[in-house]
Amino acid sequence: MRALQFFEYGSADVLRVAEIPEPHPGPGEIRIAVRSSGVTPADWKLRSGAFQQLIPLTLPHTLGIDAAGVVDEIGDGVTGVAVGDEVYGMASLERMGGANADFAILTLWGPKPAAWSWDEAGGAAGNTETSVRVLDLLAIGSGDTLLIEGAAGGVGSMAVQLARARGARVIGTASAGNHEFLAGLGATPVTYGPGLAGRLDGPVDAVFDCAGSGSLAELVAIAGGPARVVTIADFTGAEHGVRMSRTGGPGAEPQSRDALTIAAAVPGLTVPLAGVFALEDAAGAHRLSETGHVRGKVVLRSSPPVS
Ligand SMILES: NC(=O)c1ccc[n+]([C@@H]2O[C@H](COP(=O)([O-])OP(=O)(O)OC[C@H]3O[C@@H](n4cnc5c(N)ncnc54)[C@H](OP(=O)(O)O)[C@@H]3O)[C@@H](O)[C@H]2O)c1
Repeated sequence: MRALQFFEYGSADVLRVAEIPEPHPGPGEIRIAVRSSGVTPADWKLRSGAFQQLIPLTLPHTLGIDAAGVVDEIGDGVTGVAVGDEVYGMASLERMGGANADFAILTLWGPKPAAWSWDEAGGAAGNTETSVRVLDLLAIGSGDTLLIEGAAGGVGSMAVQLARARGARVIGTASAGNHEFLAGLGATPVTYGPGLAGRLDGPVDAVFDCAGSGSLAELVAIAGGPARVVTIADFTGAEHGVRMSRTGGPGAEPQSRDALTIAAAVPGLTVPLAGVFALEDAAGAHRLSETGHVRGKVVLRSSPPVS
């Protein structure tokens, strides 16, 4: 099968579509024929070598954390899913990859909502799991005002909608060009950067930092303390008393096991897409994600499509 790999750390130029043996699911896993898969910032941080110390890899490495497709093999002990089912899900976090390929092994999955295209489903799983996990940690519920730092990106755009579905009011930071987009998702937009507290229209109960832009001190002050602040991207979290939530590498937290099934049942949930690329054009997809200013998710469409 075809798989997106890199044989050495480096720029997007090191990406190769290689022919490798098809994988088969182990206990508790399923295999899908991939229709579309995601590109997340973790993918290019793994590829560049930025995560080398945190998450050592054996090269060549097959990239891709999330994918959607049709179930074609089922591992021992798996119940509730059948060959032929359409699902979206995540590859093993121990392997930290495997989704950008013709066939992928999933360890976490949920039913693909009929309203989502394959590309939307292919880019949804990681951001959905992350959002549900953090909204649960922050205990976001009806009546809360949640500030999301970096709300227009892949995680943020999903977190905005899932927090709104819980009945929360959401304030989302983004560059000015993304304010209309955020308002369309149901958030009150505000520009990020120093002096954020002065641009807010009232108190905030909790903060979800999706940006990791060095703003934690100000975010803690806005929340009135670190207890209801969670970051997924700022490794200095502990210095501010802020919980850093991640599911890969040392200190990883458990995934939210039912997040994908819960999200699939949220009416009207959308997966904004920043770009759709062919697997062969993955370098362009990585370069787009590496700008750090994408609106929604970058995905790789499988070609030829699986029937
Ligand atoms: N720990 C975990 O479990 C976990 C899971 C998923 C992702 N992550 C990490 O979380 C981060 C976000 O992931 P993502 O997929 O959402 O990234 P993304 O899709 O690339 O989005 C990045 C967003 O950050 C915004 N941004 C850029 N500069 C900013 C600044 N100075 N202040 C506030 N926002 C800023 C951008 O908004 P504008 O375009 O409007 O500038 C953009 O929407 C990445 O570092 C990723 O590695 C962690």
